[in-house]
Amino acid sequence: MGIRITVLCENLVGRLVGSGEHGFSAFIETDQGHYLFDTGSGQTIVANSLMLDRDLKTIRKVFLSHGHFDHTGGLPEVLKLRGNVDVHAHHHIFLDRIHVVKENGKETKRFIGIPYKRSYLEFLGANFILHRDFVEVEKGMFLTGEVPRKTSFEKPDLRLFSEIDGKMVQDIFWDDQSLILDTEKGLILILGCAHSGMINIIHHVINKTGKEKFYAILGGTHLDFLTSEQLEDSIQSLKKMAIEKIGVSHCTGMRAAFRLHQEFGDRFSYGCVGSILEV
Ligand SMILES: [Fe+2]
Ligand SMILES: [Fe+2]
Repeated sequence: MGIRITVLCENLVGRLVGSGEHGFSAFIETDQGHYLFDTGSGQTIVANSLMLDRDLKTIRKVFLSHGHFDHTGGLPEVLKLRGNVDVHAHHHIFLDRIHVVKENGKETKRFIGIPYKRSYLEFLGANFILHRDFVEVEKGMFLTGEVPRKTSFEKPDLRLFSEIDGKMVQDIFWDDQSLILDTEKGLILILGCAHSGMINIIHHVINKTGKEKFYAILGGTHLDFLTSEQLEDSIQSLKKMAIEKIGVSHCTGMRAAFRLHQEFGDRFSYGCVGSILEV
């Protein structure tokens, strides 16, 4: 199947057109139709889609990687253009999410969950289809479902919490899902923020698909928030895997991107706004 994946929303701008924001979204074109993986925070998705000539009105399905605002905040803008559409996600995307920052002895709490009520999104046309398990969402396209935590070095981000029944608990991100496209050249894996751990996700994908060859891994890796030791453990694990191209974005950060470039050379690229992967 012919595939073209375009980064619509991302922190950095790499082409002559488009704007950056803290968020991620990818527009996926296949022979079966067009799809959207995440929506960014809502600041750039419409303008970038127009400038990059990717028509949001044509999308068949929306996939949400997790409930953070920088992946879900653009959903109303998409729905206003598209109208009724299936939106695939995990049940936990509607949890309240909190980011706790401690600076100079002062603690600040910031709401970073999905910024809209489910009923408002449904009013705009979202038909939520919620999954917990690995699922084929379209022929040759899969969502990972909940990812088992196996590695010792991919630890939860201690600044992130969910609020359940008024109680703040460490966010375990069961909603963190990635999208898989099964192509003749190998699997394409698109990550949202990889809160489950990039290596945990890859092992889960290998386990569920029975395939080990990755043509490309794209999206947010969250490697920016690991200690140097954890980052090295992740990179050494990646080197042992069959990955042809690695095109990271968003929460990967410059430190991890430079390390990945050192290790993967020409197989590495940074997925800025407007970056395209074609198969
Ligand atoms: Fe993110
Ligand atoms: Fe996130």
